[in-house]
Amino acid sequence: MGDLRIRPANVEDVPFVATMLGESAVWRPDKPTPSGDEVMADPRYAMYLAGWPRPGDHGLIAEQDGSLGAAWYRTFTEASHGYGFVAEDVPELAIAVIASRRGQGIGRRLLVGLLDASLAQGYPAISLSVREANPARRLYESSGFVTIKKHGTSWTMVRYANHSN
Ligand SMILES: CC(C)(COP(=O)(O)OP(=O)(O)OC[C@H]1O[C@@H](n2cnc3c(N)ncnc32)[C@H](O)[C@@H]1OP(=O)(O)O)[C@@H](O)C(=O)NCCC(=O)NCCS
Repeated sequence: MGDLRIRPANVEDVPFVATMLGESAVWRPDKPTPSGDEVMADPRYAMYLAGWPRPGDHGLIAEQDGSLGAAWYRTFTEASHGYGFVAEDVPELAIAVIASRRGQGIGRRLLVGLLDASLAQGYPAISLSVREANPARRLYESSGFVTIKKHGTSWTMVRYANHSN
């Protein structure tokens, strides 16, 4: 078995990233996960990936004899944005790892790599939207994200570039 590595995502990764978008959209293990095509047919989710790569998009793939997970971000506008929008200069991230490889540290490695990329690109912060009950929330909290907005069970979290924890 080869080493696990994290590398930048490119246009050939879009079909895999779409399946990861489906995993993050329907994160509950007891619910059926939409296919990549299904999730890209739903404008609520497709907005996170359609037309990849747009200027400002950045993504990472974890792989080991095949793709295991993806984390990526995109900037949005006041006029057109998703759930975790905070400001036009604050990209929103999405992340998922294939079900059979969760809980092995891959998500944390992807997240750390993506946060480093956002700092290198000079963004003042990075945001995301997570359901209150999603255990991924603990990963975000331990990575410096704070909750800034609660819309029902959808929480918007932000990690500031100059955060102190
Ligand atoms: C969230 C996700 C990307 C994390 O990736 P991962 O490789 O499983 O995470 P890691 O192994 O790096 O664990 C990091 C932390 O996540 C937390 N965590 C994430 N999912 C968890 C779960 N199902 N149960 C318990 N803890 C979980 C833990 O706090 C863990 O911290 P620890 O290692 O200090 O205990 C992955 O579980 C996933 O794909 N989930 C489904 C899609 C999803 O919910 N995406 C996010 C939508 S906002």
